[in-house]
Amino acid sequence: MTAKLIDGKAVSQKIKDQVQMRVEKLKHQGVVPGLAVVLIGDNSASHTYVKNKQKTCEALGMRSDLLQYPDDLTQAELLATIDGLNNDPNIHGILVQLPLPQHIDEFSVIMAIDPQKDVDGFHPVSVGNMMIGNEAFLPCTPNGIIKMLDHYAIEPAGQHVVVIGRSNIVGKPVGQMLLQRNATVTYTHSKTKDLVYYTKQADILVVAIGVAKFLDSRHIKPGAVVIDVGMNRDENGKLCGDVDYEDVFEKASYITPVPGGVGPVTIAMLMENTVQSAENSLA
Ligand code: GUN
Repeated sequence: MTAKLIDGKAVSQKIKDQVQMRVEKLKHQGVVPGLAVVLIGDNSASHTYVKNKQKTCEALGMRSDLLQYPDDLTQAELLATIDGLNNDPNIHGILVQLPLPQHIDEFSVIMAIDPQKDVDGFHPVSVGNMMIGNEAFLPCTPNGIIKMLDHYAIEPAGQHVVVIGRSNIVGKPVGQMLLQRNATVTYTHSKTKDLVYYTKQADILVVAIGVAKFLDSRHIKPGAVVIDVGMNRDENGKLCGDVDYEDVFEKASYITPVPGGVGPVTIAMLMENTVQSAENSLA
């Protein structure tokens, strides 16, 4: 069997086209959706991600404010900045790029964001609503993964989903969201004994551990759907995922490439959350 490529760029474009129509409609109602991105320090990966988010905002006719600060910004200063954005009616989405410098407490920062502007879906109110299946801003990467599965008519109901990784940004929420879609979900992580025992049972495997080319064909059963959330550099400095793409390609039924897989869809979901927040502000 040869895998079918899950084309993240195509899925992303479809979502962005829909967002753009919603942006146009809002503009006729006098509202320009606005996203504020707060970037602290000089993490080069963060700079790249933020630049892509801004570029996409602008391409869709949305307002994009970049608030950039040096590494020594204090927690109090950051919280004051967030407070200002919470109270700015022209800003509908607030994203504080992670990771933060060590001296800033991530949880306090997430807690400070108004849940109505929490387009990352990281606030405990958003997470709680997501857990019980209420309406909520859903975290962008997990939500993007669901959109990719839907686009290719890959139905999670009844399937065994194995998630590798338990981060708050990807691993934990993607498992919960697939559970909402009636999948049977197993979480695995760096302390899991005999990882292969679990991964080989997966109908759908979500790999989010941040180790270059960690997963190979020995980990999967024939016909598995493989979603690679990784974004790493290989030994030659080339962008690669957590999955050894060439090795797994022949054995999987579907696979996401890196780059061009989960990444572009994640950004599209951020745009969708921001336009949704702007629409909510009119209601
Ligand atoms: N850093 C890596 N991924 C993300 C994300 O989705 N949101 C934020 N705020 N920071 C990140």
